[in-house]
Amino acid sequence: IERTLSIIKPDATRRNLTGKINAKFEEAGLRIVAQKRVHLSLAQAQKFYEVHAERPFFGELTEFMASEPVVVQVLEGEGAIAKNREVMGATNPANAADGTIRKEFALSVGENSVHGSDAPETAAQEIAYFFAGLELVG
Ligand code: GTP
Ligand code: MG
Repeated sequence: IERTLSIIKPDATRRNLTGKINAKFEEAGLRIVAQKRVHLSLAQAQKFYEVHAERPFFGELTEFMASEPVVVQVLEGEGAIAKNREVMGATNPANAADGTIRKEFALSVGENSVHGSDAPETAAQEIAYFFAGLELVG
């Protein structure tokens, strides 16, 4: 059974959308096996997104992620990484399919409501960045 790291981003926590977004995960068969609210420092956001350090939007992205609290969570299920990305929808909400989180809730390509790991290696790294083993309750 696979696990993936999800982040409910500041644009969504600010608008009180945590419950509606979690309902989307649960309806898709993803189980929330760990969850906490954290306010990332800029340095922590930069470390999390270090693969994007050379991208032109890195400053905007990391300042946004550190601007207000986020909810970090571990989702578990068959094919959880791909399934979560399907439920999230395309990065740019203008391209996201109907019924996806980003289609319903995202404000822009930057303020796009959720993050999801993109591969097994990054999922393992990202889960370990936020959670100790004992916090994962399957
Ligand atoms: P994540 O699940 O958040 O990693 O999204 P993704 O895998 O769909 O997108 P990607 O990894 O390519 O980019 C990471 C994040 O950077 C996106 O979710 C956006 O929040 C942000 N981002 C991507 N492209 C742009 C852009 O052109 N402008 C801005 N401001 N942010 C962007
Ligand atoms: Mg990504």
